[in-house]
Order: sequence, then structure tokens, then C-alpha cells
Amino acid sequence: MPEGLFAPLFQEQLKTHLQLPVTNHQSLITSHRPTMSFPRRYTGLIEKYRDRLPIHDDTRVISLGEGNTPLVRLNNIARDVGHDVDIYVKYEGLNPTASFKDRGMTMAVTKAVEDGSQAIICASTGNTSASAAAYAGRAGITAYVLIPEGKIAMGKLAQAMMHGAVVIQIEGNFDVGMKLVKEVAEHAPVTIVNSINPYRLQGQKTAAFEIVEALGRAPDYHCLPVGNAGNITAHWIGYCEYASASGDHVTGACAFCKGHCAYAGGAGVGNRPRMVGFQAAGAAPFVRGEMIDHPETVATAIRIGHPQSWDYAWMAVEESGGWFDKCTDEEILAAQKLLAEREGIFCEPASAASLAGALRDVRSGKISASSSIVCTLTGHGLKDPDTAIKQSTAPVLKVDAELEAVRRAILDNMA
Ligand code: F0G
Repeated sequence: MPEGLFAPLFQEQLKTHLQLPVTNHQSLITSHRPTMSFPRRYTGLIEKYRDRLPIHDDTRVISLGEGNTPLVRLNNIARDVGHDVDIYVKYEGLNPTASFKDRGMTMAVTKAVEDGSQAIICASTGNTSASAAAYAGRAGITAYVLIPEGKIAMGKLAQAMMHGAVVIQIEGNFDVGMKLVKEVAEHAPVTIVNSINPYRLQGQKTAAFEIVEALGRAPDYHCLPVGNAGNITAHWIGYCEYASASGDHVTGACAFCKGHCAYAGGAGVGNRPRMVGFQAAGAAPFVRGEMIDHPETVATAIRIGHPQSWDYAWMAVEESGGWFDKCTDEEILAAQKLLAEREGIFCEPASAASLAGALRDVRSGKISASSSIVCTLTGHGLKDPDTAIKQSTAPVLKVDAELEAVRRAILDNMA
């Protein structure tokens, strides 16, 4: 018997037996280690869902690796709210520019460049402008962004400026900006990249694909914050495409296919969620049932009174058996804080409207017990540090830079 497994004599025997070029212990070990295979580098949602998007084989794709965001199960909050519900958050703040807008922007800018456009334009409450600026930079074209003066979160403004967009502040809100953008685009060679650009919703529908893939089915309810109403529409399109066996009668909420959907079927998923849209109480045209002229909310991202996807969003909600409702600013901020403190997830105020509303509807029984719920967290909390700091009640302790002072501060603040 050899003294050890790799004793020289035994090695020789093994070598002959296995016909392996065994030269030393190490090579014997490595040759028997199963080969590791690594997943291919993720290169963005257009590559991943190419056959479900209006993309040609030779289209130059403008991507920053958007999509593929985590679907995080809420452990503490779901346990506390009870009713045996499963709540997941789709953390869209982890996209390249820290909001869901990147999903639509990769498509809109890719198609704009394909069509020969040298410039894009949008009105924005902040996130669309940040995303447009980044993708324009990547593509080597110009972005013009119209933003409401004084009503956009600092992080978003910083992004638009850093990415080299032409930032135009207007003394008016998003709705006024949107009207101007539509007028300007009729006279200037610029492509609008707001969600009235149908390619935006095509990109954004992929969030629904990812959720279905992660859960193995669609959730029972999908809750989103609603502003311009493109995102709730896009999600519904995605769910419908994955749920439909054929391209007929997929949904009336899609502007793209004009009747027959080329991207439906194949996913083997039969169910679709109820779509539930939450607006800020001071900016809730869907709840009021009419447009409003002076929207106000701390959640500046959804400070919108004239949503552009009005009809489609209504269709998404009605086809799905869902509803619109509103949350007060206090409810929104409380949900933002709760998520940050209890689950370690930092989203911007507008995003938290989805969770604020969902929790209220679970408690009241409007969302049935034992349901699965997905809430979209549309943007990262770092977008709006001012609002976060303003509402943080825990004091920042200032002490001398000495051991005893730090020790005291810790002991005095033990939980
Ligand atoms: N959440 C955030 C963080 C947003 O930035 C927006 C929209 C929404 C929710 C609402 O999505 O418009 O599709 O209903 N922001 C746009 C912008 C209007 O200009 O960045 P929606």
C-alpha cells in the first residue's frame, strides 16, 4: 500500500490506469476538481430580452447594464403587518442611475440613435432627466432636460449636470414642462424620451418579466407609485405578454403593437396580478378622476397633475381588477423610514408610496390575506438626501475625540 494517496509509486500506477499525465500532486488535484462555470457577464435588459423587444440584430445597443435588480422579500415588515402576506420589493433604485427610468431609457436612446437622432429631450421631475443625461453621454448625443425650478431632489440635479446635459430650469411644474417639450419637438430635430415615447414602456415592461422569473409566477398584487403613469402601464404590458399564450387580445394598454402583440407567449405563466397605483394625496388626479393643475407633495418625483399615460393606466388598472388610491405625505415618509430602519432598504420618498399603500390595504383587508405582493421601489434614497435628513429624528451625537467621551456616548445610548 502506498503511504499516502499520492505516494510516488501509487501515482505512477494511477497515471497508467487513468492515462493522465500526472506530474505532481497539484495537477492531480486540479484535474479532478469539477470545472467551474461562470454565468456570462450581464449586459443589460436589451440583450437579455432581445426577442421580446423591438430590436434588430444589427441595432447598436446603448446600455449601462440596467435591469436585473433584486426582488427582496420583506422579513420584518411582513411579519409585523400579519395577515400571512408575502411582501417583496423590486429595488429599482439599484439601476445604473439609481431609478427604474434606465429600463426605458436604454430602449429609447438605442432607438433614437438607430433613427439618426443627435439629441434627445425630456421634461422631468428629476429621474428621467438623470437617466436621459447618462444614456445620452454614453451614446455621444446631447440631452436637453426641462426641470421644475426648486422642486427636484439634489441628487438628480447633480446627475443631470455631471452627465453633461443641457439643464433648463423652468418656473413651472412638470406638467408645464411636458407641454413645452411636446411643442419644441415639433419644431426642432430632437427625440422626446419621456414615457410618451413607446420604446420607453417596452424597456420598462422587462421589470415584470424579471419578477415572474424570480417568483415562478406573477404576484397576486403589484403596487406602484404613480406619477405620469407610464410605469404602471409598462408593468401591466409585461405581465400580459408573459401570461398570454398568443398575441391576440393581450392588453388594450399597449400603444406599441396596434392589435397583435409580437412578443406574447412562451413564458408558460397563466396568472396576472391586480395592478394597484398609489399617488401622493396632493397630486392624485387618478383618485380625483380628473386632472389637477397645482399638484403638491414632498415626493417631488410624483408631483404631477396631468399624467400622460392617463388612458393606458386606467386600462391597466381596470383590466387587472386593481385600483388607484392615495397616500398622505406623512404616510409616504413613514413607509420610507420603516423600510430603511427595519429592512435596510433606502428608497426615495415617491417609491415608498407603493409600500405605504400596500400596508394600509393589507391591514384593512382590501388586499386579501395570504397574498403575494410586489411593491416597486422606483428610486434610490440617496437621490434625495435633504428629505431623508430632515425627517431623521435620531440626533447625530457630537462628542470630543476622546475614548471616554465616545464610551459615554455608547453607554448612554444603549438600546
Ligand atoms: N417614482 C419615481 C422615483 C419617479 O421618478 C417617478 C416618475 C415615478 C415614481 C412615477 O412613475 O411617471 O411612470 O408613473 N418620474 C418621472 C421623472 C416623471 O421625470 O423622473 P410614472
